[in-house]
Amino acid sequence: MRTTLTIPSWWSVLLKDILETDPDVPESLEAFVPSLERLSSYLNDTASRERRTAPYLRDLRLRHAYLLYFATANLGKLSVPLFELRQSVAFRGKSVLRVLDLGCGPGTGIAGLHAFLGGLSSPPVVELLAVDAVQENIHLAARVGEHARRLTGLPVSVRIAAMNITRPYATWGERFDLVIAMNVLNELPLQHEARWRNGIMEQLTEDGHLLLIEPALRETGRRLLAFRDASIDEGWTVYAPCFRQADCPALERETDWCHHDIPWVRPSFIAWLDERIGNIKKSLKFSYVILNRHGETLSAHLPFTPARRVVSERFDEKGRTWCFVCGSDGRHVCQRNRRDRGPSNEAFDHVERYDILALEDVEQRVHDLRIPPTGAVRILSVSGE
Ligand SMILES: C[S@@+](CC[C@H](N)C(=O)[O-])C[C@H]1O[C@@H](n2cnc3c(N)ncnc32)[C@H](O)[C@@H]1O
Repeated sequence: MRTTLTIPSWWSVLLKDILETDPDVPESLEAFVPSLERLSSYLNDTASRERRTAPYLRDLRLRHAYLLYFATANLGKLSVPLFELRQSVAFRGKSVLRVLDLGCGPGTGIAGLHAFLGGLSSPPVVELLAVDAVQENIHLAARVGEHARRLTGLPVSVRIAAMNITRPYATWGERFDLVIAMNVLNELPLQHEARWRNGIMEQLTEDGHLLLIEPALRETGRRLLAFRDASIDEGWTVYAPCFRQADCPALERETDWCHHDIPWVRPSFIAWLDERIGNIKKSLKFSYVILNRHGETLSAHLPFTPARRVVSERFDEKGRTWCFVCGSDGRHVCQRNRRDRGPSNEAFDHVERYDILALEDVEQRVHDLRIPPTGAVRILSVSGE
């Protein structure tokens, strides 16, 4: 999605109602700064969390600080994969969408769904079950759901359940079109991951999808990619962002991972808090993967095969323009020398991270793909409703 994300205006009204502090008067947010600093250092310290995660959101001040800062950024991220998922059988033509939000926190996914559905001309009715190990979170999530519904008028009903989602009995006896786990995988013990994935399988409708979003840190991003690879080994299909149903090339080198990076209109209260905590969120960076059991892929809904995903930024150098692209045959440097620029490939001047490309008549060399003067480059858009 080549766009700049905007957080809907009802969100700051909701924050004001729930936090009893007006985010549009940033000076009144001073009281949140110490909690935000604590949260930031905890969430970024992936090494210590690997050994043990804590139910940190039980603390009211941390929970409210999370809602104010992290939920604001995370809710915007959800729209990006949902935009791609909108093409799927599970979304198209369904008047009721059943959603399970695992590790819902203070209601980020609920808010993100409202933001996404608000952009659709005929949004489905959403029945959402929000689950978290922390009781206080699900109660806050329910309040966020009530306020969001009142403010947006969208038909999103919310039920809540407190549960440790890695326990073998963590099932709900019902099936969902979409299971969301946002920023949760990195908090689950590695040894329970496979069991958790199998449990989700029991939770999906025949054409349902599992959407995981993770922070774009190296460790969390790589864990998501390893989860992706293990899922494929167990018969899952990657719907998006990958066009490759085999091992992820980014896992070959310890220093690599794969993530999106999308510009957003940073709310002024986030800019103010960033300044205070030194954590500049000028764009939204995150990793995601959408998986299913029924074999559906985003590429089947695109007007060109084989599509490739841009998986790095674009580098404009003196003699050439290049980026990394990833497709069914793996990841390659894709480059165009300055002298080879022409009408059929000038779109290459504008490619951005996670764009989907149709490349025609390009030259496959040992170490890269070369776009010759006659080579064609198109940036594919995932078509609308
Ligand atoms: C970083 S927060 C993410 C919240 C929200 N999904 C978001 O993206 O903003 C991680 C959440 O996962 C929950 N969580 C972690 N381990 C869990 C488990 N085993 N069972 C249920 N919830 C869990 C935590 O309580 C916390 O609310």
